[in-house]
Parts: sequence; structure tokens; C-alpha cells
Amino acid sequence: MDVNALRPLSGPGRKLYIETYGCQMNVGDSEIVLSILQGVGYRLAQELSDADVVLINTCSVRDNAEQRIWSRLRYLNSIRKRHSMLVGVIGCMAERLKDELHENGVDIVAGPDSYRRLPSLLDSALKGIKSIDVELSLEETYDDIQPVRMDKNGVSGFISIMRGCNNFCSYCVVPYTRGRERSRSAESILEQARILYQAGYREITLLGQNVNSYCCEDVSFAKLLGRVADIAGDLRVRFATSHPKDLSDELIEMMASKENICKAIHLPAQSGSDVMLQRMNRKYTREWYLERVSAIRRLMPQCAISTDLIAGFSGETLEDHQATLSLMREVGYSSAFMFKYSLRPGTFASRHLADDVPEQEKVRRLNEIIALQNEISLNVSKEEIGKTRQVLIEGDSKRSSLQQCGRTSQNRMVVFDSTGLCPGSYVNVRITDATSATLFGCVIKD
Ligand code: 5AD
Ligand code: SF4
Repeated sequence: MDVNALRPLSGPGRKLYIETYGCQMNVGDSEIVLSILQGVGYRLAQELSDADVVLINTCSVRDNAEQRIWSRLRYLNSIRKRHSMLVGVIGCMAERLKDELHENGVDIVAGPDSYRRLPSLLDSALKGIKSIDVELSLEETYDDIQPVRMDKNGVSGFISIMRGCNNFCSYCVVPYTRGRERSRSAESILEQARILYQAGYREITLLGQNVNSYCCEDVSFAKLLGRVADIAGDLRVRFATSHPKDLSDELIEMMASKENICKAIHLPAQSGSDVMLQRMNRKYTREWYLERVSAIRRLMPQCAISTDLIAGFSGETLEDHQATLSLMREVGYSSAFMFKYSLRPGTFASRHLADDVPEQEKVRRLNEIIALQNEISLNVSKEEIGKTRQVLIEGDSKRSSLQQCGRTSQNRMVVFDSTGLCPGSYVNVRITDATSATLFGCVIKD
């Protein structure tokens, strides 16, 4: 299959502009939304100024994500005075703030499980009828919808394998905005992976809020991962995100047994303190987490481990904060997403746990975490100097068309002089220099 068959259609039709905020799941959802709306004649607009309809796919995970979207909506309302278009809000914020959004002039509000109804919601909105649908579903996985691929490089593609979350971490809004956990059929995932491979993609990331609890007709996540990897030896497979409590030996063994399953695992710790982990309802202890890290390192000494951390959660003492810093040193994370705690209405924490670390202190702790992670990331990168790594070429480097870039199996970006090879080719690169996020090297000719 030609990659163009997976790309947005062009030509006449009502023009749709989609902006996506938040996680990779949202990026995948926007591709599903485009597919559904192309089916009823909409075509993707490249510029906002060409749009008849603008859809904002939103994130509610932290307050600042929502604030950015409110400010974008104010801007859209201001340009609507000159340029008539419908504005829709879809995704997590639609689920959470349906009425407020509608009262603020948004024409269409659709939650994460309502995308099949977007064509009729748009029709109603065109007739001036209030269009809100935020019903969550126990079954919807959009299993049969072929996403329209909007990635830039045609090398790395994402497949959502499940939706929703059942974990109810006390700080997190996701179980309320995305609903209960449900898995897609293994067959449809494999079919989508084969299509991507045939279209030239060489790296597939399997996505879910907690991929370790994937289960469909007795196929575990480890088995699914193995089957995707078996599609072709030159197809890399990654996944995100793993909840540490569900990280099985079966999965670690599967990762270790296949060369093309990337040696990188995102394992959000959130905190290094047992008291915090319990208040967060994470269902594991620091000791248990560290045992899982040892299990990974035993079978895959080269495996990169990355994480998510929250600074200043309810009741966090200086001692708890120190425990997070010491966990970071002990694991040696290759990278981390680091946040300060943001109270989310509706969560367990918002109802029962005081948001009692002062803002300034949250910022101070977050900055300390970020500074330490920068140091650790640089050390992890420097360890790479002198090694030869297989790199999947993604395209020209950001800075110069005389250089190309791509990732190692451990997910580190590498920049090297152009080879003349197309994106999607593999090269062996000897690493000669490193910053905290990027490696530099020379291609080794075989
Ligand atoms: N405040 C700060 N960070 C949060 N996350 C989720 N909810 C919150 C919150 N209320 C972070 C967690 C999660 C990542 C996706 O976002 O670290 O792993
Ligand atoms: Fe939120 Fe926890 Fe579910 Fe992740 S596992 S989406 S942090 S509730």
C-alpha cells in the first residue's frame, strides 16, 4: 500500500482544521476524527484561515493545559467576527466542561467516545441547533476506523490499542474524562500494523493509558507486542504507557527476546515516597517499583527507563520530596516528564486531600527535580559516547539539511551527516558526542 492512501484527501469539500493538545492518545484520536469526517465529505484545511470548521482536541490533565485552550478559544471567537466558521471542542475538556464551553460560544462539544456522531453534530450546529454529546461508552474503541495519518515523517506511526483507565490515581482526571478501560481486538491492531508497514512505516508505538492491562480474548499485552514484532524484522515496536503495578515478567521477557522490540520503557513513578504513593493510590511501593526496575535491568541491561514525576502533591513533606530525588538517582532515568501537582475538580484528591504545598514551594521542588534530571540525562547520554547504535532515520535534522536524524532503540535522538538514504532506512552510528537530549555521531559503513 502507498503511504498516500493513508494521508488526508485533498480536493473540494467543506474544510476542517484540527488542533491537537495533550497526549499521544489525542493525536491518534484526531486521526480517527479526520477519517470519520472525510467519510462525509470534509477535507483537511492546512491553514486556519481556510477552515469552515475548527475542532480543538483538548486535554484536561493539568489546569495550565485547560488555560491554554481557553485562551485559544478566546482568539477563535475574536477572529470569528471577520471569518465565519463553526468551532468545536472535542476530547477530555469537552467531557469535563460541556455546559461552560457551550455558554462560551462553542458550537459543538463532543467527548472522546462521541466521534462517530460528529457528522450529525456538525449538521445540527450548521442549523443553529445546540450540539453536545459527551456520553461515555463501555465498548467504543473505533476498532474498524482506519485513521488518516497526519505524522510528518511517514516512518513512525501510533496505534491506540485500548481506551480509558480504571486506575483512579487520586490526582488524575483521566478515568472521568475518558471512561472505563477497554481493549481493541488483537486482529484489528495487527491489521493496522501490517498496513503501516506496507506503507513504509518502520516504527510502531502501541498506545494506551495502561498498556500492561491490555487483554482481549486471552491475548495479553506481551503476546500482542510479540505478534506485532513478528510482522517484520525491520519493524521496530514501542509502547506507552506502562503502569508499574502491572508490569509483568512475561512482558519483560518478551521485550528481551526480540531485537526489534525497542529497549525503552516508560514507567511513571510519580513519587519516590511510599506515603505519597499510597495517597496517590498508585498501588505499589518504592521497593516494589525498584524490584521491577531490577527485573528490567537483569534481562535488558541496555534498556532505557523514563518516567513521569509529580512535585508537591497533597501532604508532600521535604522528606517525601527527597525520596523522589533519591529514586531518580537510584534508577538513573534516561528522561522524565516532570509536573507540579495541579488540583483537578472531581478527582478523589480534590474531594479529600488538601492541596497544601504552597505554589512557590511546588515550583522550587519541581525546579530541583528538573535540574537533577538534566544532570542524570546528560550522564546517561555521555555513557553512549564510543558505542555504535542502530538508528532508524526519520529525516533531515532540525538545524540543517546537510544532517539527518533518527532514534536509537533506547529512544535517544541522534544527529549525523546526511547519508543520502531515505527516512525509514537503518544506519549504524558511532556516537562521538552528547548533550542531555541529543547524541551526535558518524555513520559506520558496512
Ligand atoms: N497534576 C500534575 N500532574 C498530573 N499528571 C496527571 N494528573 C496530574 C495532576 N493532577 C501527570 C502524571 C501522569 C502524566 C500523564 O500527567 O505524571 O503520569
Ligand atoms: Fe491517570 Fe493513573 Fe490512569 Fe495514568 S494510570 S491515566 S495517572 S488514573
